[in-house]
Amino acid sequence: MSDPVQSSGGGEALSALLHETRRFPPPPEIAAQANAQPGIYEDAAKDPVAWWATQAERITWDTPFERVLEWDLPFAKWFVGGKLNASVNCVDRHVAAGRGDKVAYHWVGEPDGETRTITYGQLHAMVCQAANALVELGVKTGNRVAIYMPMIPETVVAMLACARLGAAHSVIFGGFSAEALAGRILDADARMVITADGGYRRGAKAALKVNVDDALRQCPDVRSVLVVRRTGQEVTWEEGRDHWWHDIVDRQPTSHEPEFFDAEQPLYIMYTSGTTAKPKGILHTTGGYLVHCATTHHYIFDIKPETDVFWTAADVGWVTGHSYIVYGPLANGTTSVMYEGTPDAGGRDRWWRIVEEYRVSILYTAPTTIRTLMKWGEEYPAAHDLSSLRLLGSVGEPINPEAWMWYRKNVGRERCPIVDTWWQTETGGILITPLPGITATKPGAAMTPFPGISADVIDNDGIPVGKGQGGYLVITAPWPGMLRGIWGDPERYKETYWSRFPGQYFAGDGAKKDDDGDLWLLGRVDDVMNISGHRISTTEIEHALVGDSRVAEAAVVGASDATTGQAIVAFVTIKGDIVQTPEEGEILVEELRATVARTIGPIAKPRQILLTPELPKTRSGKIMRRLLRDVAENRELGDVTTLLDPTVVNMIDEKMKARAGTDDDT
Ligand code: WTA
Repeated sequence: MSDPVQSSGGGEALSALLHETRRFPPPPEIAAQANAQPGIYEDAAKDPVAWWATQAERITWDTPFERVLEWDLPFAKWFVGGKLNASVNCVDRHVAAGRGDKVAYHWVGEPDGETRTITYGQLHAMVCQAANALVELGVKTGNRVAIYMPMIPETVVAMLACARLGAAHSVIFGGFSAEALAGRILDADARMVITADGGYRRGAKAALKVNVDDALRQCPDVRSVLVVRRTGQEVTWEEGRDHWWHDIVDRQPTSHEPEFFDAEQPLYIMYTSGTTAKPKGILHTTGGYLVHCATTHHYIFDIKPETDVFWTAADVGWVTGHSYIVYGPLANGTTSVMYEGTPDAGGRDRWWRIVEEYRVSILYTAPTTIRTLMKWGEEYPAAHDLSSLRLLGSVGEPINPEAWMWYRKNVGRERCPIVDTWWQTETGGILITPLPGITATKPGAAMTPFPGISADVIDNDGIPVGKGQGGYLVITAPWPGMLRGIWGDPERYKETYWSRFPGQYFAGDGAKKDDDGDLWLLGRVDDVMNISGHRISTTEIEHALVGDSRVAEAAVVGASDATTGQAIVAFVTIKGDIVQTPEEGEILVEELRATVARTIGPIAKPRQILLTPELPKTRSGKIMRRLLRDVAENRELGDVTTLLDPTVVNMIDEKMKARAGTDDDT
């Protein structure tokens, strides 16, 4: 495990910054009206479990819970004995309360001008129809259903229909390959897949059904595939297995009598990269997760459901979309914007046109996107009326102070508080964040654990560090949205999260307490990279590379990158004398990049692959990634004395420098 402060690659610059940080107190008009008022931290700290029980009243329970928490470390049960239905909480109860005409989603398609407005009443009808269709296709409570979809309303409908039936969904981001999809379907033992013919991505039609067809060659147990027509592109069809959504769903009744499930009924599995080649199926259950999403969404985004228009600019295929496009906002009866495409589809001001048109009041996005918008220039936001915005959020990776300040000035117009929210697929919802009416924020700091959450930064021996020091981030008490395990692998769950520091949840992130005791996140300390806010494992890519019979060995590192946070750099040794000329080398490199894209998905394609006769190793045969990271980031090489052959790394370093500027970034 690497040194948490070093691993950020920006330790020194950061410490300098920590001492001269400006603070931005909450604007008085936000503070006066804020959902979270001073005193909330003390209230929650007095008895966190009791505080969460109070928050659970945001949710409608069919049977009230008997105990708030059963904690058999590391296995938690929240709201024990309670029964509820997540889809009823997200939809039916708002309709029953007379809010059926309220807009749930303003959906904006990537092709300009294509929009749909979906009210809670309409969403209710759609979810009921989809649930009835799933029943007809044989889905039962306790099953798993894979969802591989573009960013369209039917994706949300499919998720809620599964939840309504007590069948766990497993949404797989549409950018994953057929191979990656198959691995996840098999691991979850999903018997049904919901997909679309394709989706729009950067103006082009990207195929999805074709990947499902490929994947299912390896998944004989999948009996039905439900396909939404989105792009109208050609698809191949397997009679008996494949069904068009418009054939099956549209003819169903628009009502469906829900059942109520135990609070610990699995709600979904979301696969995420860990430090091994095999992604982990993170399991979330119903009651605690929903309470966590609704509570954090309410306080952190200061949601006023009557007036706010909330926009999480993320894909539903990741956890941010699950918690803050679907479950949190719907549980709170909020109006959301859901946008299908990229920020520059139809022009670099696309986002700002959306904010202006729908009077978006809260925008939540990732630092990578902010840095991209920053690169394009301030004239794009400047040309639009962004006066509806009152609060901004950031998630997914550490936000550098420059990007934070740009966001504040050009998007927030110096008025809007920024909440930098730290959390993970595993945590289910936000755990560390400012509160908009209370916290005086610092550019680049996630600041404080959310009320009812206990976090700390500890050193290698598990001792909490003092102010001004760095270490490993741990969560020291269970929380309602926490993962309940890794699907099918309780041992790996214990081992990954609870054994490094016994009794504490090890997040895998480095963090620092500043002189005021506020928290700064420093990036991963394990072999997980963060590329544009997406978690990708170095091991998974190495595995894909050595899957090519010509590759002898591969080592992958995440090098810091001005836009994407980190970028993937691979060092590869080739067997024998396959490569004779530089041209052959170039061709092989391109083929290897394509192999990675095919095996995992285009998001995992290395920015750069360097062919090298050897990799730097210690005398015990371990690859020295730290040195490779130095090479990839053009830094002075660190300590090489433990290397078996120090000349190897110098040779790689020279090769890298010779290549600098000749590789493209695609
Ligand atoms: C990183 C995304 C710094 C972190 C919700 C974490 C962050 C990983 C922040 C989880 C933040 C997320 N500041 N780093 N505000 N938010 N991260 O599972 O390294 O896709 O462990 O969940 O993203 O990524 P995941």
